[in-house]
Amino acid sequence: MLARIRSAAVLGIDAYPVDVEVDIGNGMPSFSTVGLPHGAVKEGRERVSAALTNAGFEFPLRRITVNLAPADIRKDGSALDLPIALGLLVASGQLPEAGLQDTMVLGEIGLEGDLRPVRGSLSMALAARAAGCTRLLLPADNLPEAGVVAELEVRGARTLAEVCAHLAGGKPLPEARVDVGRLMGCRPPDSVDFVDVRGQAGAKRALEVAAAGGHNILLIGAPGSGKTMLARRLPTILPSMDLEEALETTRIHSVAGTLQAGQSLCAARPFRAPHHTVSDAGLIGGGSPPRPGEVSLAHGGVLFLDELPEFRRNVLEVLRQPLEDGVVTLSRAALSLSYPARFILAAAMNPCPCGYHGDPAHACRCGPLDVERYRSRVSGPLLDRIDIHLEVPTVPYADLVGLGTAEPSAVIRARVERARAVQRQRFRGHRGVHANAHMSARDLRRWCAVSEPVEGLLRNAVNRLGLSARAYHRVLKIARTIADLDGAGAIEPSHVSEAIQYRSLDRKKAAA
Ligand SMILES: Nc1ncnc2c1ncn2[C@@H]1O[C@H](COP(=O)(O)OP(=O)(O)OP(=O)(O)O)[C@@H](O)[C@H]1O
Ligand SMILES: [Mg+2]
Repeated sequence: MLARIRSAAVLGIDAYPVDVEVDIGNGMPSFSTVGLPHGAVKEGRERVSAALTNAGFEFPLRRITVNLAPADIRKDGSALDLPIALGLLVASGQLPEAGLQDTMVLGEIGLEGDLRPVRGSLSMALAARAAGCTRLLLPADNLPEAGVVAELEVRGARTLAEVCAHLAGGKPLPEARVDVGRLMGCRPPDSVDFVDVRGQAGAKRALEVAAAGGHNILLIGAPGSGKTMLARRLPTILPSMDLEEALETTRIHSVAGTLQAGQSLCAARPFRAPHHTVSDAGLIGGGSPPRPGEVSLAHGGVLFLDELPEFRRNVLEVLRQPLEDGVVTLSRAALSLSYPARFILAAAMNPCPCGYHGDPAHACRCGPLDVERYRSRVSGPLLDRIDIHLEVPTVPYADLVGLGTAEPSAVIRARVERARAVQRQRFRGHRGVHANAHMSARDLRRWCAVSEPVEGLLRNAVNRLGLSARAYHRVLKIARTIADLDGAGAIEPSHVSEAIQYRSLDRKKAAA
């Protein structure tokens, strides 16, 4: 007897259909799985045999062969447990095959026949629809996530027995009900707000510019000046995600297993703040099979590296590729995977080891060499990729206790949304470019053309500050964003001079 059940396996953030073929033949009792099973798939054999017996079914004591087609792609994960169990039941005549037409099945099985959630169920639901399946059966805990996919009947079960009862025409399983329109329609409330930050007008403006153009930003300031506080509020002024972005971010979190129980979509932009002891695999992804790292979990949102010089140098160096390309490629023997990783990098550091270099209220105890050594822990190429360098001054007492109210995040966000709308219009039909920060050198010539007086201002700055070619391009990009915030078509001298303000480390270097 032969049974064929449709299922899927995850590769990166995409999934591909897998046919689980189960054959029960005569011969010595055995159970073999072929088709490049790895890790959890191999172990599934033991779970399935125990679960069938414990759930009151008969485990066929014959020669069992399970084939996972396509046979040449390596399969990992526990989602194939349930299809293998159903295949065994169908092949041994304990379950009718009729209910499984056009149906994809996924799920991990416990020893008692209970179903446990699997990673990547959203990607697999999308694969089910793409493969022409009309129904999906999976663990009930995955319903909120997989139920997001339209035009697919998604049903969830708690136990193997429930699945069998449903398929045999007994009690039907509950269907997923996810209102995607409502989920996307209301922005989830943020736990922090710019209203709490007193004073710091300059820093807030710089963060607004960073949010409006998708620019990376480095905050430099004394201890307690509010760098961490400011950076944490950056996601609150980023524009809301559209459905496509939310699906992509959700797929990454689903594969990584970082979705909260019951969460359907990541509709809020992520804010990831890895500790400075993070390993390079933790930051860009790794393991076997390679799982997404912090840069991918921050996709669509903010990656915040607090105390930047404390990060190990090799860890920071691996950031260079995702910062440039918006993806990370993880190559392992026989397998190369790419995960999206487009985020705004926000970093914070003290100006020197003691923290008070340049602070008017405190004497700095560091020698010039200490300061130099401290800063050189962050490599030049990384600094060059950060568009905005911002010095955060300590808030004056009067500002801290003053009665004036600060602008709430929603007001700032409205301006950011307007500037982003201009950029969407500009980059329409331009793949991979969503914001000014993503422009290539060629795009700059097209969209950041400047008039004669602005040209002169720039020439002066490049010569005086010794800007690198990349830094020069960054100034142009920031100027474009400032002009967009201003609602101006052409880049004006005031935009460029504000942009040059945001290259404070370059200015320092030139002065030294
Ligand atoms: N502008 C401000 N308005 C209101 N409170 C502030 C402001 N700046 C700082 N604070 C208060 O000071 C605390 C410390 O700020 P924060 O942790 O952001 O400092 P930091 O610059 O990150 O310091 P460190 O360099 O030590 O990490 C905040 O939690 C907040 O309570
Ligand atoms: Mg801090």
